[in-house]
Amino acid sequence: MTRTQLIKPRIREMISGELPEGLVKMLPKHWVRIGDVLIIPIRPELEPYKHRIAEVYAEVLGAKTVLRKGRIGGEFRETNYEILYGNDTVTIHIENGIRYKLDVARIMFSPANVKERVRMAEVAKPGELVVDMFAGIGHLSLPMAVHGKARVIAIEKSPYTFRFLVENIELNKVQDRMTAYNIDNRDFPGENIADRILMGYVVTTHEFIPKALSIAKDEAIIHYHNTVPERLMPDEPFRTFRNIAREHGYEAEKLNELVIKRYAPGVWHVVVDVRVFKK
Ligand SMILES: C[S@@+](CC[C@H](N)C(=O)[O-])C[C@H]1O[C@@H](n2cnc3c(N)ncnc32)[C@H](O)[C@@H]1O
Repeated sequence: MTRTQLIKPRIREMISGELPEGLVKMLPKHWVRIGDVLIIPIRPELEPYKHRIAEVYAEVLGAKTVLRKGRIGGEFRETNYEILYGNDTVTIHIENGIRYKLDVARIMFSPANVKERVRMAEVAKPGELVVDMFAGIGHLSLPMAVHGKARVIAIEKSPYTFRFLVENIELNKVQDRMTAYNIDNRDFPGENIADRILMGYVVTTHEFIPKALSIAKDEAIIHYHNTVPERLMPDEPFRTFRNIAREHGYEAEKLNELVIKRYAPGVWHVVVDVRVFKK
């Protein structure tokens, strides 16, 4: 994923004659590339020229579709992008040897989470059972199945995202050890089965801790993501996790904590690796 390249002189060359003076310096200097789809930020001043700008970026950078950066929100963490150029927003993005097929216009794939996707490939152990409670297209659990050779149960509630999850399991040839469920994880029937649990969600992840504990074996590792106001760090989010775990008969030990990215002003997306064990 290309994120921070300097604007190519060729882009400037192609478009500067078409823009009023003063606007050229507002051309997007950074972009995100997911497969052959580009996401660019467009300043309001460039609104009348946005389609032509997108066309030039697509040509110079070799993309089939260009989207305007928007916000991610809602239960399914859907993106909200405006299509500026092209129309096909489904692409295959290759990262760390994994093939991720997705609809970039509707499904989030954050460049800032790349380190975590790579880290998950390294922490998983051959043969262990991982339950991914918020699987998306397999963002975090495909690396565990492909590189870590773990067995994975991937749960994804959105029917649209689920279609890509199933395709990605096949594309990466891990059907023998990765199974997907299109259900709300609170309806998942497995109990006391997981060696490791992924809770890759934000804002309300704590509400799912009791369910995670019921899926976990008597001793397990949970990768617990949540969003935390800076003033509550570093005690949160582990303190809340441990309190809820204790209410459910588990002790919790913090193994590691990492900041993933800034979520909003003064709010951070963090992940805590927690070892839980039944008291
Ligand atoms: C933000 S994405 C995260 C994907 C991946 N875990 C990561 O961290 O990169 C969260 C996914 O969880 C799904 N989801 C939300 N609530 C869910 C629930 N109760 N059960 C199963 N999936 C859920 C959403 O549809 C979305 O695809």
